Amino acid sequence: MSGEKPDEQEYSFTVVKWFSLAAVVYLVVGALVGDFIAWELTFPELNFDNPYISFGRLRPLHTNAVIFAFGGSTLMATAYYIVQRTCHVRLWSDKLAWFTFWGWNAIIVAAVITFPLGLTQGKEYAELIWPIDIAIAVVWLAFTFNFIMTIVNRRVSHIYVANWFFLSMMVMITILHVVNSLAIPVTLTHSYSIYSGVHDAMIQWWWGHNAVGFFLTAGFLGIMYYFVPKQANRPVFSYRLSVLHFWALSFGYVWLGAHHLQYTALPDWTGSLGAAVSMAMIIPSWGGAINGVMTLSGAWNKLRDDYVLRFLVVSLAFYAMSTFEGPVMSIKTVNALSHYTDWTIGHVHSGALGWVAMVSIGAIYHMVTKLWGREIYSVSLVNTHFWIHTIGTIIYICAMWVSGIMQGLMWRATDDYGNLVYTFAETVSAMHPYYALRSIGGVLVLLGSLIMLYNIIKTISGARQPVSAAAEAKA
Ligand code: HEM
Ligand code: HEM
Repeated sequence: MSGEKPDEQEYSFTVVKWFSLAAVVYLVVGALVGDFIAWELTFPELNFDNPYISFGRLRPLHTNAVIFAFGGSTLMATAYYIVQRTCHVRLWSDKLAWFTFWGWNAIIVAAVITFPLGLTQGKEYAELIWPIDIAIAVVWLAFTFNFIMTIVNRRVSHIYVANWFFLSMMVMITILHVVNSLAIPVTLTHSYSIYSGVHDAMIQWWWGHNAVGFFLTAGFLGIMYYFVPKQANRPVFSYRLSVLHFWALSFGYVWLGAHHLQYTALPDWTGSLGAAVSMAMIIPSWGGAINGVMTLSGAWNKLRDDYVLRFLVVSLAFYAMSTFEGPVMSIKTVNALSHYTDWTIGHVHSGALGWVAMVSIGAIYHMVTKLWGREIYSVSLVNTHFWIHTIGTIIYICAMWVSGIMQGLMWRATDDYGNLVYTFAETVSAMHPYYALRSIGGVLVLLGSLIMLYNIIKTISGARQPVSAAAEAKA
C-alpha cells in the first residue's frame, strides 16, 4: 500500500490497524445504542412494545458494546502496538494475533445476537451465556500469551511501565472472569452460578469493580503511559511514581468490590473495608493522573495546537475527577444517598466518556497517523470532535448529577409524621428534563464519533498524501 511505513515489515501492524478500525466502529455502535436507550428512558414509547429493542435487553448490549467491543478492541490494538514498539520486536505470533482479532469479533457478534433474544446470565458486565464465556477465556488467554511471549523475546532489557499495566490487566481479568463465570450448564443457553446468595453477590461485585479497575483503568493507564510521553515528545514525568502507581493500584483495587453492596445482606465490615480501601485509592490514582499531566511540564504550549494531546490531557482530568468521586461515593453515608440513583450513572460516564473514551480516542488518532504513515485528513474535524465530545460529556454527567441527587433526596424526604413526601412516580417524572438533557449530550458524543470515523476513513483512503511525501515536498 502506498504510504506504508517500512516498519510494516519489521512489526505486525496490520492486525493493529484492524483492531483500531474496529474500535472506532464499535464506539459509533456503542454510542448509538447508548443514546437510543437514553431516549427510551426519556420517552418510554420508543420501545414500540417490541421486546427485542426494550430497554432491559438493549442496556447490556450498550454496556458490552462500549466496554468489551470498543474498549476491548482499543486495548488489543494498543497493547499489540505498544509491546512491539517498546520491546523493539515483532509480535511473537501473527497467527495468534489474528486469532484474537477474529475470536474477539465473533464473541461480539454472539453478544449482538443473544442479548436482544433475552439470553443472559443476569450478572452485570458478565451477562454473556456460558458457551460465550468459555470463548472469552480462550481468546483472552491467546491475547495474554502472545503479549507475554513478545515481551520474553524483547530486544531491550527494560520492560516499559505501560507493559506492566497491560500485564496486570491480563492476569487479573483472566482470574476474575474465570472465577465469576463458574457455572453449571443445564442447556446450551442456560446455566446456574456455582455460588449462591450472598457469596454470589460478593463474587459478582469482586468481578464488577475489577472490570472497572483492571479492564477500564489498568489497561487504559498502560495507554496513557505510552501515548502521553510520545505525543508530548517528553519522557514520563516520574518513572518512580509510575512504578508506585502500578503496585498500589494492582494490590489496592482487588479489595474494593464490597463498596457496591453497602447496606445489603453482606457482613457490615466488608462494606467498611471496601470504603476504607476506596479512600486509600485516591492516592495512587491522583499520583498517576499528576504523573501524566506533569509529563507536559515545559511543553504546555503544545496544548494550544496539538489536538491529540488535548484529548489525552482532558482524559486525565476526568480520570482524576472520577477517582475522587468514586471513593467519596463509597462512604456509607454518601452511598445511602447515591446508591440506586442516577448519580452512579453520572459517575460511570465521567469515567467512561471522560477518561476511557477520551484517552482511547487520543491514542487511536495518534496510531492511525503512525500506522498508515499519513497526516490526519482534517485537523479541524478533530478539533470539532474534541469540543463536541467534551461538551456532550459535560452535559451528560451534569444532568445525571442533578437528577441523581434530586432523586436520592426525594426518595428520603419525609413529613413531620414520618410519611414519604413523594410517590415513586413523582420522582420519575421529576427526572424527565434531565433524561432529555442526557440524551442530547449523547447525540453530541455520537456525532463526534461519526466525525472521527469519517476523518479516519478519509485519512487511510489516501485523501492526504503520505507523511514522507509531504516532508519531501516541503524540503
Ligand atoms: C453516546 C454516549 C453514551 C450514552 C448516551 C450512554 C447512555 C447510557 C444509558 C442511558 C445507560 C443506562 C443508564 C441507566 O440504567 O439508568 C448507560 C449505562 C452504562 N454505560 Fe453508557 N452511554 C454512552 C457511552 C458510554 C461509554 C463510551 C461507556 C464506556 C466506555 C459507557 C458505559 C456504560 C456503563 C458501564 C453503564 C452501566 C452503568 C451502571 O450500571 O451503573 N457508556 N449508558
Ligand atoms: C478509585 C477509583 C474509584 C472508586 C473507589 C470508585 C467507586 C465507586 C462506587 C462507590 C460506586 C457506586 C457503587 C454503588 O453504589 O452501587 C461506583 C460505581 C461505578 N464506577 Fe466507580 N470508582 C472509581 C473509579 C471509577 C472509574 C475510573 C470508572 C470508569 C472507568 C468507574 C466506573 C464505575 C462503574 C461502571 C460503576 C457502576 C457499577 C454498577 O453499579 O453497575 N469507577 N464506583
